[in-house]
Amino acid sequence: NISFGFRSRPCCLVKPVSVTIVPERSSHHQDNLPKLPVPPLRQTFERYLLMLEPLVSEEELDHTRKLVKEFLTPGGVGDRLQRSLERRASNKENWLTEWWMQSAYLDSRMPVAVYSSPGVVLPRMTFQDRQGQMRFAAKLIAGVLDFKQMIDSETLPIEYLGGKPLCMDQYYQILSSCRIPGPKRDTVVNHAIGKVAPTHITVVHNLQFFVLNVYNSDGSPLTVDQIYMQLEKIWNSSLQSNKEPIGILTSQHRNTWGKAYNNLIKDKTNKESVRAIQKSIFLVCLDAPMPQISEQRYQSRVAAQMLHGGGSRWNSGNRWFDKTLQFIVGEDGTCGLVYEHAPAEGPPIVFLVDHVVEYMQRMEVVRAPMIPLPMPPKLRFNITPEVKKDIESAKQDMNIMVHDLDVNVVLFSDYGRNVPKAHDLSPDAFIQMALQLAYFRMYKMCCSTYETASLRMFALGRTDTIRSCSNESLKFVQAMDDPVKPAIHGQAIDRHLLGLKLQAIEELASMPEIFMDTAYAVAEHFNLSTSQAGAKTDCVMCFGPMVPDGYGVCYNPMADHINIAITALNSCEETHAANFGRAVKKALRDMRSLLGETAMAKQ
Ligand SMILES: *[C@@H]1O[C@H](CO)[C@@H](O)[C@H](O)[C@H]1NC(C)=O
Ligand SMILES: *[C@@H]1O[C@H](CO)[C@@H](O)[C@H](O)[C@H]1NC(C)=O
Ligand SMILES: *[C@@H]1O[C@H](CO)[C@@H](O)[C@H](O)[C@H]1NC(C)=O
Repeated sequence: NISFGFRSRPCCLVKPVSVTIVPERSSHHQDNLPKLPVPPLRQTFERYLLMLEPLVSEEELDHTRKLVKEFLTPGGVGDRLQRSLERRASNKENWLTEWWMQSAYLDSRMPVAVYSSPGVVLPRMTFQDRQGQMRFAAKLIAGVLDFKQMIDSETLPIEYLGGKPLCMDQYYQILSSCRIPGPKRDTVVNHAIGKVAPTHITVVHNLQFFVLNVYNSDGSPLTVDQIYMQLEKIWNSSLQSNKEPIGILTSQHRNTWGKAYNNLIKDKTNKESVRAIQKSIFLVCLDAPMPQISEQRYQSRVAAQMLHGGGSRWNSGNRWFDKTLQFIVGEDGTCGLVYEHAPAEGPPIVFLVDHVVEYMQRMEVVRAPMIPLPMPPKLRFNITPEVKKDIESAKQDMNIMVHDLDVNVVLFSDYGRNVPKAHDLSPDAFIQMALQLAYFRMYKMCCSTYETASLRMFALGRTDTIRSCSNESLKFVQAMDDPVKPAIHGQAIDRHLLGLKLQAIEELASMPEIFMDTAYAVAEHFNLSTSQAGAKTDCVMCFGPMVPDGYGVCYNPMADHINIAITALNSCEETHAANFGRAVKKALRDMRSLLGETAMAKQ
């Protein structure tokens, strides 16, 4: 098992490929993408030792040096595993993707809520009444359908990074897909590529699920007015909230949910209802209002609501956490989404958000004659005593998780991308160094730091890790954006090390010592798990910490301010999201002063 007690997955910029995915997205573009390379063996271990320098003691490092030397004996285990990896790479479109999908996501047994699924907080809305809420939800649905139109017609513009085209596959995995729990390992199904593409979404209100067909019989999408009317019907027939929160089952540990799932779908009605949710294009959660909170804490509370729904008393049962995309629109103006991480990294999700927000702004409501539409059917569930018991324990576990999650959203308004850019510095690298500084000031040491790096320059590429902590970062030297480059060019060390390790599991009788080493455990224990999720929309993405004693940090550098979401667990005495937030603000301020001084000195 590659996880150290918690989870081994990285956060945002990763994407998955399920077994059901059609890899040849016939377009020219995809076929011409380069293949992900296997980095040279000795290069990876040189970098591995360098990376360990700021993290472990001199004795530990000496020990690891010996193990590395042994592993790299010419003609030894290292060379053998490397050859196997290279063979794998020549036989597959991407040597890593399937392995990554399995080990980072589908094998992980932690709940997807909080521990895996990122949330996105959208700007707060003011709804005068529930019509306002539903009108907003209707526009949002229309916006997502507009995005889907680009997917269906394969007219989505190809993205570029540094002049290089990126793999667009992830965009094709986020609609009409769903994770399915298994007792040992999950799967992901993508219904968009089935024979009959789904034409419905799922709407959940007051814990009750409805099937809402969003296409007319001639294949045209419903208009905003039509969707609005259908939402009102749904609302009107789900007024009582005394229902069992069946959706909360999806927030459980995966083994527990896997068992409960098999039990749930023994009943034919339940099975059909579950299938309808899984097949739907996406889910819309019309949330009940949450308790009032101070303006200052508002963003943090919404981030928590996106991650877990607020607990069993609130909206945690108003979800289907297995669903890849869930948009959340609260009666109190809370808006955002939560997505199941296995099929995609943050960037496609953020791109979708930007598209939808822009659509909603430019969209004018055209009143067209209305053909009456049938009532959207409510999904029925038969709650047996056993299912009821599973729901009760899911509620308890969810409430523990809710109490444990410590969230702090920092709206840093002093400056944004503009300042580092004016000094020819990468805003991302600049913020990463601020996080290093903040962490060092709080803990008087540095830690293994994970920053997601996209591998989408390569066919079916997901992510590797930028390790922002290095001797250099410790010394705060000039090379602020250097660590980024090897990662996105497929020369980072983390996925290569993982590949060698998984290859060892496949072909060796015992695990090479290098992977059993304390230093390796330290290197893999990411106290700081970070990701930049840059959007045009003034939003912020958030995700839970990767280790029980660490922080999850996601930031969106806007032109003149920075939105930062920080998470930690209350059960860890050493971590504190708000304190870390304050340290980050101070670090950003101090670093700007430093830039000012440097500029003055140059004049
Ligand atoms: C929903 O209920 C409200 C209040 O009773 C009513 O005014 C409205 O017409 C109903 N909407 C639909 C679509 O049935
Ligand atoms: C990194 O820092 C350690 C401790 O200060 C030092 O011993 C080592 O030589 C440094 N390595 C490099 C490559 O600068
Ligand atoms: C960070 O990681 C190390 C282990 O690598 C651990 O000892 C430490 O307590 C962790 N947490 C914090 C908040 O430093």
